[in-house]
Amino acid sequence: MVRSLISIEGLLFLAAPVFGNIGYPPIPEDLTTPFQVRLAVNGQNAVAIGWNTYKALNESCVTYGIAPDKLNSRSCSTSSTTYSTSRTWSNVAVMSGLKPASTYFYKIVSTNSSVEPFLSPRMSGDKTPFNMNVVADLGVYGKDGFKISKGDDIPYTQPEFNHTTIGHLAATLSDYEVVIHPGDFAYADDWYLKLPSVKEGQEAYQSILEQFYEQLAPITGHKLYMASPGNHEADCSEIRRLLELCPEGQENFTDFKHHFGKVMPQTFASSSSERFAQTQSEKARSFAKPPFWYSFEYGMVHVVMINTETDFPNAPDTQTGSARLESGPFGSKGEQLKFLDADLSSVDRRVTPWIIVAGHRPWYSTGSGHHCQSCQKAFEKLFFKYGVDLAVFGHVHNSQRLLPVFNGIADPRGMRNPKAPMYITCGGAGNIEGLLHIKHKPSYTKFAYAKDYSYSTLKFLDDKHLQIDFIRSSTGDVLDSSTLYKSHSVPFVTQ
Ligand SMILES: *[C@@H]1O[C@H](CO)[C@@H](O)[C@H](O)[C@H]1NC(C)=O
Ligand SMILES: *[C@@H]1O[C@H](CO)[C@@H](O)[C@H](O)[C@H]1NC(C)=O
Ligand SMILES: *[C@@H]1O[C@H](CO)[C@@H](O)[C@H](O)[C@H]1NC(C)=O
Ligand SMILES: *[C@@H]1O[C@H](CO)[C@@H](O)[C@H](O)[C@H]1NC(C)=O
Repeated sequence: MVRSLISIEGLLFLAAPVFGNIGYPPIPEDLTTPFQVRLAVNGQNAVAIGWNTYKALNESCVTYGIAPDKLNSRSCSTSSTTYSTSRTWSNVAVMSGLKPASTYFYKIVSTNSSVEPFLSPRMSGDKTPFNMNVVADLGVYGKDGFKISKGDDIPYTQPEFNHTTIGHLAATLSDYEVVIHPGDFAYADDWYLKLPSVKEGQEAYQSILEQFYEQLAPITGHKLYMASPGNHEADCSEIRRLLELCPEGQENFTDFKHHFGKVMPQTFASSSSERFAQTQSEKARSFAKPPFWYSFEYGMVHVVMINTETDFPNAPDTQTGSARLESGPFGSKGEQLKFLDADLSSVDRRVTPWIIVAGHRPWYSTGSGHHCQSCQKAFEKLFFKYGVDLAVFGHVHNSQRLLPVFNGIADPRGMRNPKAPMYITCGGAGNIEGLLHIKHKPSYTKFAYAKDYSYSTLKFLDDKHLQIDFIRSSTGDVLDSSTLYKSHSVPFVTQ
């Protein structure tokens, strides 16, 4: 989300010379030590693993197997990448040939790494119930982040406190199999909220990234964690004047590309027996641009991750867009929308009955000024046409559940087999900017919450029932629970 910037800008230049002291994490003695470990679904039987090191690796390798003392498989890559302002290198390897939905163990090849467990992905078409968590706008904690001073009547929270969302996700690892995170990760571009000087901003930005991704590693190193971009990944700052000073490496989604680019999948080959689906899915694969837009399948779900920041007409984060973050494009003209059309049209509901689309900026939301109209114009018709079941967004810093809606009109069928997609916003996971008041609720709002940090759990019960829960991070209480019924009686939806 974007803060009101004018006063901050004034403050920054007044205070700039006084503050300083960037707290970088210590560099380990053993430079092969893996940090920021992250797993992602990479294909039907494959999991990609990414990690950062404080030196370049000639070879990035991982060993893995079905028991901690039987790490009989080994996979390597020669990809170890960095950029000008970074202290670390991003490494990646893909663990393939995995039996589906089985416990495995991995050890990143290093003189200072440990053996860790993970669950391999479910095959497309596996109708076993499972849970998928949704978080967005989840940022750094510690002395460079985390407060809830904004919104409702929440008292200021000491930054030293644990991040309740990260804490709760870590405490409940066995309750879910996958996490999707549509945008806004470290909030490194909010370094100016702690008022170091502009010169130190560059260091503060990198320090926040290192801290956040390491804080998230207890989750990302054990669970399949799927990412797509938000506005806070775009540039070194959201302040116009500072944008001109962004160093190379802190603009145009650079860190996001290095961190997730080779870890997110290139979209799966179709597992439908229909020729048409296979052709469309091949097309989608050729247009996919991970980590910006791509899809993956997991059990009974087809998930599409989209980019609401760049790469469609009047996208907000481009040179001419409303947020003016001077980023993109990452594909050729119209490529993202061609991808989305081909990808959604390829989904065979007999194999994966559910379609979830996740992006950062919503167009249905409480409050004013948080409706991405260019996003709506680009994406909503395609969602409806191909019968997307649930659309998931972030950006607005609270939790919201809306009834199925199309073109601003609630579907009269409600939660009983609607034609329109249902919408949720999961932007209340917690970050340095705090939570956002609930105001101006549209009539189709069923739940809106900004009193504490929260996130959502999607429970895929069977091919017709999806339970959507909102969880209060500090207590684990279920704040809201609803079930969407879809008959999924047509193999290929076009309406
Ligand atoms: C080994 O890794 C841990 C973090 O996992 C780090 O704290 C420690 O400093 C590393 N040891 C050396 C010798 O680098
Ligand atoms: C890594 O590559 C560099 C340059 O090619 C080489 O000098 C070095 O010996 C290699 N190190 C290892 C451990 O293979
Ligand atoms: C924060 O979490 C860690 C483990 O994740 C725990 O050891 C520590 O006690 C927690 N601190 C507070 C203040 O809750
Ligand atoms: C951003 O990066 C992409 C390639 O990843 C490039 O095509 C594009 O021109 C860059 N945009 C800007 C504004 O530098």
